[in-house]
Amino acid sequence: MNPKTCEEISGNEIMECEAEHYFNNLDTSKAYGPDGIPPRLLKECSKEISSSLCSLFNKSIETSGVPSVEESKRYIKTAESCYRGTWQSKPGEVGDAVKAAIRAGYKHIDCAHFYGNEAEVGQALTEILNELGMNREDVFITSKLWCNSHAREDVIAACQTTVKNLQVEYLDLYLIHCPYSFAKGMVFPRKPEHRKDILGYDKRRMSETWKGMEELVHKGLCKAIGVSNFSSTKVAALLETAEIVPATDQVELHPFLPQPGLKKFCEENGIIITAFSSLGSAGRPRYGEADPVLMDEPLIKEIAAKRNCSPAQVLLAWGVNYGCPVLPKSVNEGRIKQNLETYNVKLEKKDMTALANIGKKFRYLPMEVFYLDGDTQESFWDGEQ
Ligand SMILES: NC(=O)c1ccc[n+]([C@@H]2O[C@H](COP(=O)([O-])OP(=O)(O)OC[C@H]3O[C@@H](n4cnc5c(N)ncnc54)[C@H](OP(=O)(O)O)[C@@H]3O)[C@@H](O)[C@H]2O)c1
Repeated sequence: MNPKTCEEISGNEIMECEAEHYFNNLDTSKAYGPDGIPPRLLKECSKEISSSLCSLFNKSIETSGVPSVEESKRYIKTAESCYRGTWQSKPGEVGDAVKAAIRAGYKHIDCAHFYGNEAEVGQALTEILNELGMNREDVFITSKLWCNSHAREDVIAACQTTVKNLQVEYLDLYLIHCPYSFAKGMVFPRKPEHRKDILGYDKRRMSETWKGMEELVHKGLCKAIGVSNFSSTKVAALLETAEIVPATDQVELHPFLPQPGLKKFCEENGIIITAFSSLGSAGRPRYGEADPVLMDEPLIKEIAAKRNCSPAQVLLAWGVNYGCPVLPKSVNEGRIKQNLETYNVKLEKKDMTALANIGKKFRYLPMEVFYLDGDTQESFWDGEQ
């Protein structure tokens, strides 16, 4: 794995091309999707999605992690690609990965406008669903609102762009990608003069963004809405004015970053934590030579040898047993299948206890690009670790 420099990341042209889609002039009055949800059900809507996200994980805990294949297929989470897919993948790679994942039995595709590849994902999805005789309802599609579209009036256009790119009529789940905002039109601040476009976190602005997200549910564009990269402090602030409780908070989560405080807070409020970078995000943009490699951690390898599985499977099984859907990213067909087969892996209570005491803390995606002067990793993440 070659480390990536900031210059390589910021040199990405794809995202800038995609940015023009944010402000296209789609018909905002159209109610998308066959399943427009009546307002009286709105408060229940997120809960329903949450329980479907959750059910496998309750089940797997009850049955020591071995639900039926059909149940696994319905609920295991995959990701079409993350930064690597956009920044490092050759054309066609993401589409092929989506097709391989659906063929293997994955049902959840985790996308984001920011990844710059939703059009390719959408085309691949359309083709593979046709090929396999599957319907739109057979897959669960998540996408995310980027940080330059946080103004309430921009939310719907951003979502419509994503829906159009993905060639669908509605999203199952749409997330605020990060609680930190960029100025309108700023895709990614890469030069010193862009610093003025980093607006940081603002409680009132997030509350307004969330109102825009709620409008998407009213219009039938999204079945559920949620957040990503929110600390418990920021989720609590959102809940003060939210009409719909976020279905999920998608955050970095693995044995080096188990975030027990956030998890407890979300559980108490009926919010599912979804885990990203479960495998240690080897393809992340700011890859430091000194960073600990999660899959090389001796304890993980030891448990993998004992349970006759791979280190990646130990990490995914940890997420499942911890009660959180996982989103492993792979563009390799063999690893895509291997990750799905995690449901054959049984971790014992003593494994979970050992992993809880792993003794290392590390955040692979600290997201410094959003930091304002004086921010530290500790303050930025509200002490969550
Ligand atoms: N909301 C957010 O802000 C956010 C942030 C980050 C990620 N995410 C989501 O979470 C997904 C996953 O996170 P991530 O991309 O950071 O990293 P990750 O899933 O922790 O790791 C992906 C890396 O692991 C490799 N890999 C996958 N399966 C493997 C296996 N069985 N054995 C060995 N290596 C394996 C992949 O390589 P190959 O592809 O070559 O297999 C890739 O290099 C993203 O794609 C995205 O959908 C969301």
